[in-house]
Amino acid sequence: MEQKQTIRNLNTALQMEITATHQYQLHAQVLDDWGLPGLAEMMRQEQAEETEHSDRFLDRILFLGGEPEVAFEKAPVRATSLREMFEADLKDEENAIRFYTNIQRRRRKPAPKVTSVRGCSLSRLCSTRKATRPGSRPSST
Ligand SMILES: [Fe+2]
Repeated sequence: MEQKQTIRNLNTALQMEITATHQYQLHAQVLDDWGLPGLAEMMRQEQAEETEHSDRFLDRILFLGGEPEVAFEKAPVRATSLREMFEADLKDEENAIRFYTNIQRRRRKPAPKVTSVRGCSLSRLCSTRKATRPGSRPSST
């Protein structure tokens, strides 16, 4: 995969993780407002986990010399019921899994077949290496 495409994918992932972080933050506050501090705490744990994920993508983008695009993939949405909240979170997590799975599948395309290195055929390189291996004699061919 081309490095520019890799950085574009990392930025998309970064934005998805930033969105998830703030979606869980909003839900934690909403759950507190509804008088559900136990569920709010669970949302805060999810929020912290998503923040760690976004940190990893930021770190990788910078390592590769890319420019981090710190933004939401989409705006967080306030749920009006527990069902709506968990269905929306599930949908977002499924979208993230689909995105990461598709990227992973594209990376698994077979590598181009290498038949030479710097103009020298692999079969010639292999026969030369065998001949010069310690304890072996050069072949007579
Ligand atoms: Fe995540």
